[in-house]
Parts: sequence; structure tokens; C-alpha cells
Amino acid sequence: MRLIHTIKDMQALSRMLGAGKKTIGLVPTMGALHEGHLSLVRRSKDENDITVLSIFVNPTQFGPAEDFKQYPRNVEGDLAKLSPYNVDAVFLPGAEDMYPEGFSTSVNIGGIGEILCGASRPGHFNGVATVVAKLFNIVMPHRAYFGQKDFQQTVVIKKLAEDLSFDINIIVCPTVREPDGLAMSSRNGYLNIEERNGAAVLYKALKLGEDLILSKGMSDVSYVKSEMKNLINAEPLARIDYAEIVNVRNLETVEKIETPVAICIAVKVGRTRLIDNMIVEKK
Ligand code: PAF
Repeated sequence: MRLIHTIKDMQALSRMLGAGKKTIGLVPTMGALHEGHLSLVRRSKDENDITVLSIFVNPTQFGPAEDFKQYPRNVEGDLAKLSPYNVDAVFLPGAEDMYPEGFSTSVNIGGIGEILCGASRPGHFNGVATVVAKLFNIVMPHRAYFGQKDFQQTVVIKKLAEDLSFDINIIVCPTVREPDGLAMSSRNGYLNIEERNGAAVLYKALKLGEDLILSKGMSDVSYVKSEMKNLINAEPLARIDYAEIVNVRNLETVEKIETPVAICIAVKVGRTRLIDNMIVEKK
């Protein structure tokens, strides 16, 4: 497992591998790796000759009042988790290399970055799009792997790749969950025991929404949303940011439920903001 710390070295390695006709899979992360990230690594290893995992806590996707400083950083622990997987390279750039003095360019992803999570995290998705565009230019992967847990992020990144003509296949992998359904996330570590128990309400609400749509045949958006909201509000530690039922491609809210739709929710549990989603589709 090679550790690569500079953009120059990463580009040199990728060029060499590309010239040798090796396919490269990229797993972009901010570290604090968990089973969700490792599932992306396994998928990349299955589908590519070479797998590169990047670890970079990207400052431009955090708002001024958000948890950039607090965000868990544990490179040694991450490398230990990766060691059984024989990842070919781990790219660990420094902030001064990614955003040197005078850096001023950014990708503006447009309206899709201003709804749902973008409404309460202004600028977040432009920061994600900017760093992911940089990672694509640095690692030059054939495929890049993202978890469905960040559903809006996956739609944003697919749009980025399409709009800017990145010749990269964006692969979205299923959300990995704890036994009680809580989606794995590096931010789950912020929860105390009561909050961790309460956080199971997100998955319960998604399952309720899915059941109302698929088993009960409900197509009334406000009814399904209000049932889900009642369930979440019954959890004393939970405060809803949003609960929406949206079109799976453009994330616009739907007026009537016709599957497939995505149920997307963001809920604060204590002080931790958690997101989750479910794509509801008739089998
Ligand atoms: O999902 C994440 O961890 C980050 O948003 C990403 C895609 C690595 C960009 O910083």
C-alpha cells in the first residue's frame, strides 16, 4: 500500500498506470473509515486493476459554523482498517497542496446544490464538486465510488461528471447499515448512548414511508410525509431538518408518488445532523 502525499506524485503514478492500460478505481473519502467505505473499496477492487483511496477532510465543503475542526481524523486507524484490502495507493494530500495560496477557482453546481441539504448547508455542494473535480484530475480514475447514503451528493457528482465531460464512470453503492438500520457515517461517533438509540428513528421513518407507498399503495405525498414526520417527532431527541419525497434523477419534490421516488431525510439528533434516504421502487 503506497502512501502518496503530493498531487505531483499521484499524477505521475496515475499517468504511469494509465499508460500501462491499467484501470483505476478511486474511492474518495474524508477518512474516519467505516464498513461503508470498505464496501466501496471491495467493489473497486472487484472492478479495477488498481484501487486508490483518498483521504482529505475538505475545508471548502464545511460552513463556518460546521464541524470542520471537530471532524474525526485518524489516519493511522484508517490505514490499519485498509491493510487487509491491499489497496494499491492511499492519497493523502495536504490542504496547502490542494488549496495553495491564491487558489480561487470553484465549481458551481447550480440549483441542485441549493435544495435539500444545500438549503441548510449553503456552498456545501460547490465545495464537494470542486474537490471531487480536483481528485478526478489528480487520480484520473476510470471509475469512482460513492455511497448512496449521501444521495444528493451522488446526484451532484453524476451531474459534475456529465456537465464537465469527465470520462469517469460514477458508481453508487448501497448504504451499509448498523443492525438497527442506522446508516453508517463518520458522524455517528458524535452521538452519546441516548442519541445513538434515538438515531434509529431515521431508518424507521424511511421504512414506514416505503411501506405506505409499496404495501398500502399510498400516492399522497403530504400523507406519507406527515406520517413519517409524526414518527420522527415522537423521538424526543430528534429534530427534523427536512423529510422530502423527490424525483430520483433531479431531486425535485414530486406532487404525486409514482415510483421510483427517493425519500430523503435530514434529522438533528442532539447536536448531530444525520441524513439518510431510501429509493422506493416497485419490484
Ligand atoms: O463523501 C465524502 O466523504 C466527501 O464529501 C467527498 C466525496 C470525499 C468529498 O470531500
